Amino acid sequence: MSDPAPGNASPIPIGLAPRQLAWRVLQAVAAGAYADAALERELAAGNLAPLDRALATELAYGAIRQRRLLDAWIDAHGRVAALAQPPPLRWLLHVGLYQLLFSGRVPAAAAVSTTVELAKRGGLARLAPVVNGILRGVLRTRSALARRPAVAAAPAGPEPLPAWQGLALPADPAAALALRRSLPTWLAAELLRWLPSEEAEAFAQAANSPPPLDLRVNPRLISPEALRQAFAAAGVAAAAVAEAPLALTLPQRSGDLRGLPGFVEGQWCVQDRHAQAVVPLLDPQPGERILDACAAPGGKTTQIAACLEGRGELWAVDRSEARLRRLARNSERLGEGLIQTLAADATDLASLRPDWRFYFDRILLDAPCSGLGTLARHADARWRITPAAIDGLVELQARLLAGLAPLLAPGGRFVYATCTVHPRENGDQIRCFLATHPGWILREQRQWWPGAAGGDGFYGAVLERPALRAAAVEPTPAVAG
Ligand SMILES: C[S@@+](CC[C@H](N)C(=O)[O-])C[C@H]1O[C@@H](n2cnc3c(N)ncnc32)[C@H](O)[C@@H]1O
Repeated sequence: MSDPAPGNASPIPIGLAPRQLAWRVLQAVAAGAYADAALERELAAGNLAPLDRALATELAYGAIRQRRLLDAWIDAHGRVAALAQPPPLRWLLHVGLYQLLFSGRVPAAAAVSTTVELAKRGGLARLAPVVNGILRGVLRTRSALARRPAVAAAPAGPEPLPAWQGLALPADPAAALALRRSLPTWLAAELLRWLPSEEAEAFAQAANSPPPLDLRVNPRLISPEALRQAFAAAGVAAAAVAEAPLALTLPQRSGDLRGLPGFVEGQWCVQDRHAQAVVPLLDPQPGERILDACAAPGGKTTQIAACLEGRGELWAVDRSEARLRRLARNSERLGEGLIQTLAADATDLASLRPDWRFYFDRILLDAPCSGLGTLARHADARWRITPAAIDGLVELQARLLAGLAPLLAPGGRFVYATCTVHPRENGDQIRCFLATHPGWILREQRQWWPGAAGGDGFYGAVLERPALRAAAVEPTPAVAG
């Protein structure tokens, strides 16, 4: 779509700008951009008031998550199937349909009129009647359902209609789940293999809800309660998180957080509550040698550094130099000076750094993974990840595990973590590792599922290497405190 030529453009009517921005984001994502980067770029270029920014964010992320379901509504009410529509029209319809089906605060008439107006101004004037026809068709179907006695006469007033109500659902349970919750069918089928159907449903629901924004407080500088009070004084609501002692959660907060109290001073960083539970599995102690093998951008490295209280050796390795630069900025802001960085392929560290054989007391491998535990946080991720990509990740994770194992000192601790829920990347991966590394022990493993209580899906396994007999190897002495 092209914007109207500046000379011909009449002033943008109220309410059009955030919808236009969301439309642009959907088109950018369809062209390959990441949703968060595309949204950030558009928000920076636009000059929207805070409420409009919030609406644009909700529409863009919501419509991307619900792509599958919104396409099904186009299929049901258009003369042409969604996938055969001109792409700008398909994405504009998504912006309009999302408002009709999901956004309780946008009146239906406004959803229809703004979408039609955008079509006229955005190079789709000839297709404006199509936009109007499809949106009004969906509205008629939904209004008729809402008037049904069983719905209208519910004791507590009419329940909001589920967004799929009015569509014909497939008989196959995986295909039906995929349509209702807007997931790729392969993922819906996997979820139903891994979980009872009501838990698969809860997973999908969590994946479609805006995630909470959690912070990790830097306890060397401030307590969570003192930071909560500083936020309250600045008019920012924050609450403690029962399962994460150093976490605060900020409901309804997103966007640029750098202006919040304590950011510049390094009093906190953004980190999901379940991500915060991984370093306690590693249990780093002052004076130890620690390797964080896939470390950038350093959420867990800085958490480890805080545990070391300035004593010991902490290496942050990542193959991405750009991401390591972000790690360096984060650790500087948080005042964690102990961290040393190395840009390298962690599958190959044993040959790059032969002096590191048996060197580390503890190793964290926060492995590259499919990210299926963070679908709510990355609106477009479900449409990117494929079973073939997961095959490749499983193979890379196995090589990382095998390549890093020789660096752990006898009796040392190795934590393997991912932000996915796929068993092949988690429990199955660790089973394969144990089968090929005799003597290693699995102390503990834990799968956090994303769910109603908030928090990303994470996995952590605590492995221990057997202490070697004295003659077999001479481990390097521990770092002096
Ligand atoms: C899940 S992220 C790590 C997140 C980080 N631990 C944190 O808490 O902020 C995985 C990281 O692994 C890195 N990576 C992927 N393959 C790698 C490899 N072969 N060697 C080293 N780093 C790798 C990626 O660049 C990415 O930064």
